Amino acid sequence: MNDHSTNHTHFLLQVDSLAKHYPVSTGFMKPKALVRALDGVSFHLDAGKTLAVVGESGCGKTTLARQITMIETPTAGHLRLDGIDIATATVAERKQLRPQVQMVFQNPYASLNPRKRVGSILEEPLKIHTTLTAAERGDKARAMMARVGLRPEHYGRYPHMFSGGQRQRIAIARALMTNPKLVVADEPVSALDVSIQAQVLNLLMDLQQETRVACLFISHNLAVVEHIADEVLVMYLGRVVEHGTKRQIFDHARHPYTRALLSATPRVDPEQRQVRFMAKGELPSPLDPPPGCAFHRRCPHAIAACATDVPELRLVDSHWTACHRAEEI
Ligand SMILES: Nc1ncnc2c1ncn2[C@@H]1O[C@H](COP(=O)(O)OP(=O)(O)OP(=O)(O)O)[C@@H](O)[C@H]1O
Ligand code: SF4
Ligand SMILES: [Mg+2]
Repeated sequence: MNDHSTNHTHFLLQVDSLAKHYPVSTGFMKPKALVRALDGVSFHLDAGKTLAVVGESGCGKTTLARQITMIETPTAGHLRLDGIDIATATVAERKQLRPQVQMVFQNPYASLNPRKRVGSILEEPLKIHTTLTAAERGDKARAMMARVGLRPEHYGRYPHMFSGGQRQRIAIARALMTNPKLVVADEPVSALDVSIQAQVLNLLMDLQQETRVACLFISHNLAVVEHIADEVLVMYLGRVVEHGTKRQIFDHARHPYTRALLSATPRVDPEQRQVRFMAKGELPSPLDPPPGCAFHRRCPHAIAACATDVPELRLVDSHWTACHRAEEI
């Protein structure tokens, strides 16, 4: 949990001051404005661990996923995987890195090619990233199907013949085909029936135990996060406001925004129930973020300095918090 911004290479994933700004049109003949979807995000993730990323809709979770999985190129900052900086990696290094990071998307109805059979969906990553023969690819696909709870006869079927939960099993299987070191899962169960969600989460956790793959798990459901995460990273308007172990965040949250998120989630243990308060007002626009602490207009603890001074992420109570009043709260 230490060293938020140093350059050690022994972390699986190291993110330093990562920014992604999207230029958007504000109207005819008007200058383009910038959406600061990510605005200086730093953290690192150890091999085999699950880091949950939480925060309201629009805080930049998917944008973060799209930078880490190399779908997009960041505006600024550094992303290191196994010590290799993705931005400055050579073509050969990128080729080596790509199969190491795989993604599971939210919508299993849109993320699988409807014209391909399960077998070829699973074998495709091997075609791209390995020199295995067709027979070897087929063996690996069948073995993976068994591991995610699909039956041998499913090999020749099309995605539309499966339920949402089964499709997400196929998507998880596809993500694991290249033996990645990191899987980025963006709301992987939120499109599924509640009755199916636990099965898919437990499958993910079992596979993680077996393979020691690390997971960046994006979710707005804190009950799910408490079940699956080792660490929790809380984002607000493109920035990290709090980062700690699951217990530090769920039992000793210091940031008022984290507390607002938690108090909106029903807790089983009455001892853990906190004074309920919801953040007042709407999430501000990332086109025009408030000065100082971006949360100050919604925060019940705001003081004058909060409207002018940006709180830096710092260690308080042995985890990372970005709040001027973290010690008092
Ligand atoms: N390609 C883009 N062009 C312009 N703005 C974008 C683009 N992609 C994302 N944004 C904006 O960036 C901000 C962060 O979006 P993002 O999708 O990362 O949020 P999120 O945390 O994943 O939200 P949700 O929980 O709804 O999935 C939002 O204000 C969004 O409108
Ligand atoms: S810095 Fe100020 S406004 Fe921001 S969360 Fe802390 S107390 Fe609230
Ligand atoms: Mg999203």
